[in-house]
Amino acid sequence: MLPIDLRGKRAFVAGVGDDRGYGWAIARALAQAGASICVGTWPPVLSIFQRSLERGKLDRSLPGGGEFEIEKIYPLDAAFDMPNDVPLEVREDRRYREVSGYTVQEVAAVLVRDFGERCLDIVVHSLANSPEVHKPLIDTSRSGYLAALSASAYSFVALVQRLGPLMRPGGAVLSLTYLASERVIPGYGGGMSSAKAALESDTRVLAFEAGRRFAVRVNTISAGPLASRAAKAIGMIDRMIEYYRRNAALPEVNTAADVGHTAAFLCSPLAAGITGATVYVDKGYHAMGMVADPEGWEAAVAGRAGADVAAGEAVGGSGPGGGAGGA
Ligand SMILES: NC(=O)c1ccc[n+]([C@@H]2O[C@H](COP(=O)([O-])OP(=O)(O)OC[C@H]3O[C@@H](n4cnc5c(N)ncnc54)[C@H](O)[C@@H]3O)[C@@H](O)[C@H]2O)c1
Repeated sequence: MLPIDLRGKRAFVAGVGDDRGYGWAIARALAQAGASICVGTWPPVLSIFQRSLERGKLDRSLPGGGEFEIEKIYPLDAAFDMPNDVPLEVREDRRYREVSGYTVQEVAAVLVRDFGERCLDIVVHSLANSPEVHKPLIDTSRSGYLAALSASAYSFVALVQRLGPLMRPGGAVLSLTYLASERVIPGYGGGMSSAKAALESDTRVLAFEAGRRFAVRVNTISAGPLASRAAKAIGMIDRMIEYYRRNAALPEVNTAADVGHTAAFLCSPLAAGITGATVYVDKGYHAMGMVADPEGWEAAVAGRAGADVAAGEAVGGSGPGGGAGGA
């Protein structure tokens, strides 16, 4: 047996507000491996998340039996580093009025107060936000673009900067990215594609800098589509999932658990040699250069078609993979 054993380790998972997103799946997998779990929850969804947890409405079940506990929920708005950064209209917003200590620096201070100076082994950034995500990049305002970069990319730098000093050597930092950073995904707008490109670049630089400064590893998972709350807000997630199901290398839909399991591995000592990496968990969709054609290629690569297909005729002899498909 080669186990993923995270017993005795504490994880802080930022961006958990329900049980439908990647953050929850990662928290569950880390808990399954034995880690204790703290989460950072965006103030606008904090009370509904707490209520849902208290009323047992969230699926805390662990494969193999039992349920996982959340050690503590911290309010977190990762768009703000320090109290002075919070604009008055946010502070006075009814969803923020009753909440305090939600800037990144304050969360770090409360973690130290709760658990001591070196209290974290794993930090996960599973959050993104863009006020203009529905607009194509070409129509995105400067403020919308910068807001996407701030909430979705700089927030990662801020977490490493302020939670890094709390991490024990050998720890791991992880974020979630998406293929739109490197390929055009129509509809993924508002500067979110730019934010994901920045996040991936920052992963490499932080792997070096945080690696030298805190002796931790920094990676990002490029995940396939999932019908999370955030993805549903973008509005095309069901079509994307179906598109991936038809066209990924493995014609299946990736699950939140697929991402959770990869996260648990990347955060474990088994991945001690992996840092600065973008790891794809998308059933191989990223590797495709042309959509699959159910009439031709799928049959050809599955070996179900005859010699004509192997010669490329079933797909009209077109495309760079013409010979390879039947080979
Ligand atoms: N769902 C997908 O198809 C998909 C694919 C690839 C990558 N991702 C990435 O996965 C990560 C998690 O997203 P998800 O799709 O699981 O959705 P989700 O809705 O479960 O998670 C996003 C979380 O971010 C929180 N959030 C938003 N703004 C915040 C802020 N300023 N500070 C703190 N928290 C904030 C939200 O409350 C929410 O809990 C994101 O980085 C997303 O880009 C998602």
